[in-house]
Amino acid sequence: MAADRSPGFETPEELPVEMTAVRVHRFGAAPQLDRLPLPEVGEGEVLVKMAASVVSHHDLTVAGGRFAVRPAVPYIPGLEGAGTVVRVGAGVDPKVAPGSLVRLYGGGLGASRPGTWAEYVAAPERVVVEVPPSLDVEVAAACGSVALTAWIALFEVGEMQRGERVGVAGASGAVGSLVVQLALRHGAGAVVALVRDRERGGALPPGAEVVVGDDGIETPVDLLVDTVGGPRLSSRVGMVEPGGRIAYLGYTAGQEACFTLPNLLARDVRLLPVNMMRRRSPRDLEGRLVAQFATGELQVATVGVEARRLTTAVEQLRAGRARGRVVVRW
Ligand SMILES: NC(=O)c1ccc[n+]([C@@H]2O[C@H](COP(=O)([O-])OP(=O)(O)OC[C@H]3O[C@@H](n4cnc5c(N)ncnc54)[C@H](OP(=O)(O)O)[C@@H]3O)[C@@H](O)[C@H]2O)c1
Repeated sequence: MAADRSPGFETPEELPVEMTAVRVHRFGAAPQLDRLPLPEVGEGEVLVKMAASVVSHHDLTVAGGRFAVRPAVPYIPGLEGAGTVVRVGAGVDPKVAPGSLVRLYGGGLGASRPGTWAEYVAAPERVVVEVPPSLDVEVAAACGSVALTAWIALFEVGEMQRGERVGVAGASGAVGSLVVQLALRHGAGAVVALVRDRERGGALPPGAEVVVGDDGIETPVDLLVDTVGGPRLSSRVGMVEPGGRIAYLGYTAGQEACFTLPNLLARDVRLLPVNMMRRRSPRDLEGRLVAQFATGELQVATVGVEARRLTTAVEQLRAGRARGRVVVRW
């Protein structure tokens, strides 16, 4: 079986006593590499040797001290990643055995408990999803949260129906490009991909109508999934049919938006928040979406970085210069 694995997933012969981890010692300051003892594995938990750990906007929000949950510093960030199970605690399903290749996502990782920015992570079994061995290790780490967020924004919050026109603001981003792919695969009548830059729009799948900037949309959409937010969100209300919906989830273009209430009311567009911290998706949904990355039906761009270069990667993500989902390789 080991020969079929994507390179990067390793099962060490013996576990070390110590590991390298990246920790935030002060909110807003650059994270630093530390040596720490391996975590203990409790009941219902697994110990995973990480192959790749995602650096996300959520991690930066928590590390800035601006999130609802403020971990006690120093803490290990990281909401998501992938690796190999090396030890299991009591009560864990026997299907999750040492040697299993898995993803970790959610369950308070990187906020209320130590996260994935470490060589070894102890995680509750409920946040573990098995990954196909052929899946590229960076994609395995990065694909789940973006695909789940896109799915929930489109189908659960946005209630997309077959044949509807769907707009995606921030279509060149990780979540946005998954919204485009899923809308096309699930029968949207048209998908309008709003991007800042023609070059970045070129990476979107054929079938999407790429529009550069916010002004050039000819026919309004029924549903807009907005991943960028910011002051121009109010003008994008005008891109949506009266009675339509905006599922909004991100704020890479700014944290504030101001609406003229008479216009908003006249337009009769519903503004619907997508909050992945509160959503409970069906247990098998993440696994089903991850399998579609292994077959190439869904895709996500990644940028791999060595742990010692993490500070630079964090700055690139913060400045909007990361060209793909940033993934630390161990
Ligand atoms: N609500 C939730 O539960 C939830 C869940 C997941 C993600 N999110 C949020 O969703 C957002 C997108 O995440 P992601 O992983 O897709 O990020 P990403 O891959 O970094 O993509 C960011 C997108 O924002 C665009 N952008 C950046 N700065 C901009 C600006 N000043 N003006 C206009 N567009 C700008 C980028 O355009 P270029 O390609 O041209 O740079 C890109 O399309 C983040 O804010 C993240 O925190 C929220």
